[in-house]
Amino acid sequence: MKARQTKENEPAGPLTGPLRRALLAWFDVHARVLPWRMVDDAGRRDPYRVWVSEVLLQQTQVARGRIYFENFVTQFATVQALADAPIEAVLKAWEGCGYYARARNLHRAARQIVADGMPAHYSGWLALPGVGPYTAAAVSSLAFGEARAVNDGNVRRVLARLYAELTPSETWVQEKADALLDPARPGNWNEALMDLGATICTPKSPNCPACPLSAHCAAFKSGEPGAYPAAKKRTPVKAVDAVALLIGDAHEAYLEQREGNLLGGLYGLPIEEGEDALPRLLTRLSAHSPQLLGTVTHSMTHRLVTLHVYAAQAEAPRQTVKERPLSRLDHKALGLLSGQGRLF
Ligand code: ADE
Repeated sequence: MKARQTKENEPAGPLTGPLRRALLAWFDVHARVLPWRMVDDAGRRDPYRVWVSEVLLQQTQVARGRIYFENFVTQFATVQALADAPIEAVLKAWEGCGYYARARNLHRAARQIVADGMPAHYSGWLALPGVGPYTAAAVSSLAFGEARAVNDGNVRRVLARLYAELTPSETWVQEKADALLDPARPGNWNEALMDLGATICTPKSPNCPACPLSAHCAAFKSGEPGAYPAAKKRTPVKAVDAVALLIGDAHEAYLEQREGNLLGGLYGLPIEEGEDALPRLLTRLSAHSPQLLGTVTHSMTHRLVTLHVYAAQAEAPRQTVKERPLSRLDHKALGLLSGQGRLF
């Protein structure tokens, strides 16, 4: 027997057409004015600026990201300018922003784009260093109008609430995001979800009375919208004890270039971690007469570093500190000498 088309027979979940119209009408009025959203006379966005902003915003809050963005695109106004710049200048512009692999990848990708051309589609962006599905979807939808749905923290939360899903998997979020995406305005749609998540459908106290989607929202109907999605288990923070040596002063000091994914390419004071860190450092640098300057702490990606900073004497070449890109931890360490967190 054929099922009668009653309201009860409609698929569970929001109605796509009215929901799209409601969110886009809200976005047309309430979209945040952000520097990477600038359009040219033909209403197009500069893919270079969109790409830089999306890489920045992967791990940096909008308020902080916009300061780095303005500075970055002022220094490197085009993909050619970025490709032509030395990596150290790029890291210097990224100084203090963290996750420095982003800056190294931007630079490598810029050189690839200059050689091979700017990709105009999702798959071309995905092939570039440092570009994952999120960034490729963001750039291809925002700058090229391709129907690709982004899946970030804001989108995950909004969709989890719309469907009252406590534990949304990555696949679940992507499927729902793909299904809801408005193919007529994919870039606006993606940014509308981001803005709704950032300004109304916030993690702790969603402002449901102001939400254009409350009529479609299962979490709102449940009376406990903030309960969705359930909090994720946090990766435990590892405490790390380390020692740094300052040979010289806060302006001219012996610096080493860091290796590895986290801080690779940056410069900093010589550091050792773990047991006997101080004697190991003194031996390695043939240094003597250590004097404790103080201790600083800094958290980075699941590590809380406690750094004991010693002044010491040694014959070691000095570099001009302000000319080199340094991590925030090193700025804090050098700040012990001047009584401030950052020297320049
Ligand atoms: N977060 C990530 N991308 C964004 C964008 N394009 N606008 C606002 N917030 C964002």
